[in-house]
Amino acid sequence: MKMKKILAAGVLCCMGVNLLCACGKQQMSASDKVHVGVACYNQNDTFISELITSFREQLNGYEREDLETRVLIRDAAGSQRTQNDQVEELINAGCNVLCVNLVDRTNTSEIIDLARENDIPIIFFNREPVAEDLRQWDKFYYVGAYTKQPGVMQGEMAADLIRENSQIDRNKDGKIQYVVLEGEPGHQDAIVRTESAVDTLKNNGIELEKLSYGIANWNRAQAQNRMEQMIGQYKNKIELVLANNDDMALGAIDAYKKLGYTEANFPVFFGIDGTDVGLKAVMDSELAGTVYNDKEGQAGAMAKLAVALVSGEGMEDIEFEDDKYIYMSYFKITSDNVSSYVNEEK
Ligand code: GAL
Ligand code: CA
Repeated sequence: MKMKKILAAGVLCCMGVNLLCACGKQQMSASDKVHVGVACYNQNDTFISELITSFREQLNGYEREDLETRVLIRDAAGSQRTQNDQVEELINAGCNVLCVNLVDRTNTSEIIDLARENDIPIIFFNREPVAEDLRQWDKFYYVGAYTKQPGVMQGEMAADLIRENSQIDRNKDGKIQYVVLEGEPGHQDAIVRTESAVDTLKNNGIELEKLSYGIANWNRAQAQNRMEQMIGQYKNKIELVLANNDDMALGAIDAYKKLGYTEANFPVFFGIDGTDVGLKAVMDSELAGTVYNDKEGQAGAMAKLAVALVSGEGMEDIEFEDDKYIYMSYFKITSDNVSSYVNEEK
């Protein structure tokens, strides 16, 4: 009997200790609250807004009883000064990790100082800071996609199509007359996408003649405008339009439609991104192809890293290049695979 009592007391005592432990665990420590401040360069950018939607969803997926996630988003609408203020505001609002999509990738000093003074890690994304800036603190990271790859893929898709369809060379001079629609001049992706697409076409034996180019800052309306000017100058001489992203490729198509061109007189158009509208345009055979910019992959890496940086758990499962960089691969999308891709997505 005495023995039983002692045992019972022991069991109760253990339960008590367990209960205490459990309570202790349930009590949230500051590090179990992942409060992410997202600062983006321009939320009107189609790709960025889709990436952020995916980020919200994926971060939400980390919610557990003992892990709370929250996202605060600020849109700099193209002004680095506004973004600097917003970063400060996000830190003051209690965010303990930031995801920053820089307006001006060469103008990071103020944000860097704010982060270090307040000991808040930063995951830069999509717009890559210069390497020296990223090296200034061990809590700076970058998540993005490989720079050369989408241009190479766009060039390969265009070369395949041109080889298989002799009618693309409409004036039958053995050369492809082309124009380029380019993203922002200072962006790490814009020039490289153009150069690598053109080089790849040439390396694949396609003879090219560059007629013109237009800078349209990733933007559909600007691209339409630039394209209308180029059509005005070259009429139906343009056989190929290479655009640094889908929105600009779609703007180019808008221009042809607005000027009353029939589809038989359209050049072929290639984009990059695989945004919702971009994929739809491939489905509708308006875009000959696009290159999928893996926003789900990038958003997923950002969410995982944000949780790991705040909770201190899971860092060892993340693979970095040069200790700080995470780059996603692109995928080619044409009418051959787009339907399965759209279905897989949904
Ligand atoms: C690129 C993307 C563009 C635009 C740009 C903004 O990666 O392809 O559509 O979103 O980022 O920095
Ligand atoms: Ca030609």
